[in-house]
Amino acid sequence: MIDAVSYHSDSGSLELLDQTLLPVETKTVRCHNEHEVAHAIVTMKVRGAPAIGVAAAYGIALGLASPANHQTPLEQSLESICKLLAATRPTAVNLFWAIERVKKVVKAQAGSDFTAAAAIALKEAHAIKAEDIEMCRRIGHFGATLLKDGETWLTHCNAGALATAGYGTALGVFRAAREQGKKFKIFVDETRPLLQGARLTAWELFHEGFDATLICDNMAGSLIRDDKVQGIVVGADRITAKGFVANKIGTYPLAVLAKYNGVPFYVAAPASTFDLSINYGNEIKIEERDHNEVRFVGGVQVAPDNMPVYNPAFDVTPPELITAIITDRGIIRPIYGETIPEIIS
Ligand code: MRU
Repeated sequence: MIDAVSYHSDSGSLELLDQTLLPVETKTVRCHNEHEVAHAIVTMKVRGAPAIGVAAAYGIALGLASPANHQTPLEQSLESICKLLAATRPTAVNLFWAIERVKKVVKAQAGSDFTAAAAIALKEAHAIKAEDIEMCRRIGHFGATLLKDGETWLTHCNAGALATAGYGTALGVFRAAREQGKKFKIFVDETRPLLQGARLTAWELFHEGFDATLICDNMAGSLIRDDKVQGIVVGADRITAKGFVANKIGTYPLAVLAKYNGVPFYVAAPASTFDLSINYGNEIKIEERDHNEVRFVGGVQVAPDNMPVYNPAFDVTPPELITAIITDRGIIRPIYGETIPEIIS
């Protein structure tokens, strides 16, 4: 199984598979402190909602172990390490969930001893990682019941092993369906501007021998209209109590296409992706990224210098367009009123 976020106790470092280089190069980077982890998240060497949560959890452990942070009292250092990591990307709630979880355990157990605090944070980071893999397997188990033998499904962005601690959410559904002996085909949206579909999902599925075909984002509509797609499954970066789903830009138009053409549209996400403190999509902060991500493709300029650009990294899909949300606790369907808080608490 792909392990994109792995801690090495011998060197006290976090090894990340550099996802900006895939699929051309399979190289890793090593992070030795919270600054290097934060940089890796901002530059998307590690990306995907659960994976950045796991990386940040390890980042806290590295920060607490780093002598540079031992000049101020533990609680103060802990706060500034967490603040730095939380400022990396705003949309995926898993990041904040993981940071709060580690911070709470360290505050409750560590006293003022940095060595103890680092060990406690590391133990919690290991637990978050192990639980994420388990949650993905359960998502796969539930989601695979929705995929019928012989069908063709479509996915967007990368919600695979690379985006999680392993196995994946949306791609976990495909992995589990295959483990059950089902035969099916997958269309993969390339996912402009950063091409997580072409670079990452295609890489995962191709190397594992899935029957997957890459398409440009603007090809999905006619495939769906022509009955070539029987289901769509995507991941999520944040899901509100009322079922509004923030996910990679381009998810919302797919959900509209699915509704118009009567194709089921599924979101696969672990409990850590739900933000029950908010109800509606407009309460989610949508990250806006560097304009050169749109002006350039793979380092090649495709638009005039300084061309004005709009580059939101995520969009929000309302619950009425979502057939069901596949979680590690079961399938939530239909999505209205209290169905989400009843299952995710
Ligand atoms: O900008 P990214 O690559 O971090 O965006 C990733 C996505 O939108 C994924 O679909 C989402 O995080 C779910 S990953 C299981």
